[in-house]
Amino acid sequence: MDLYETIHHRRSHRFYQPDLPSREVLERVIDAGLWAPSGMNLQAWEITVMAGKVRDEFVELVGQATKFLIPELQKAGVPEKGQDMVMKFFKNLGGAPAVIAVTITKGRDANETMVNIQSGAALMQNLLLAAEAEGLGTCWMTGANFLEDAILKFLGKTDKQLLAISPIGYSAKEPPVPPRKGREVRWLGF
Ligand SMILES: Cc1cc2nc3c(=O)[nH]c(=O)nc-3n(C[C@H](O)[C@H](O)[C@H](O)COP(=O)(O)O)c2cc1C
Repeated sequence: MDLYETIHHRRSHRFYQPDLPSREVLERVIDAGLWAPSGMNLQAWEITVMAGKVRDEFVELVGQATKFLIPELQKAGVPEKGQDMVMKFFKNLGGAPAVIAVTITKGRDANETMVNIQSGAALMQNLLLAAEAEGLGTCWMTGANFLEDAILKFLGKTDKQLLAISPIGYSAKEPPVPPRKGREVRWLGF
């Protein structure tokens, strides 16, 4: 798939088929993540890929984030239908057979934290695009970060920072295309 096509076609998937993608395919996606740029090439990140029983336990934990998320959605004025969708998605992550968690090293100061977050975000985007190229769906999620401490404990990484998680698997439903806002791009000196 052409890179621009991959970028434009990637969506956040919230319904998955139960089949676990092959280890070979998942390894390629992870490898693409690890080829992201990182500040000073520190690569201060870790990836945990979960399937089977570990995935089930992890998803059960993630489901508890709705306690914190729903009040936030209400505050933001998200209609009840939207809140219900979020509840359902968080309950079983759309039935995704695998989940990826990305953690990063805590920065020693605000600048280092910013560098590690940006590097981790580059890794995430590489993962998402590689998954798209492999015909897999993903959904970048920070909603579970309300449970950061519990999630880090689950992952055995209490000295790290949780960046984001993503379900991964073959999509069961083509998601709608959320519109993009008007461009705020300035071209100076052309
Ligand atoms: C930093 C970040 C955090 C996100 N967190 C969540 C989340 O917790 N739950 C969720 O369902 N989607 C989450 N999303 C997905 C966005 O809702 C989605 O990217 C946006 O609506 C645009 O849709 P698209 O990805 O299909 O183009 C997140 C995306 C980003 C980049």
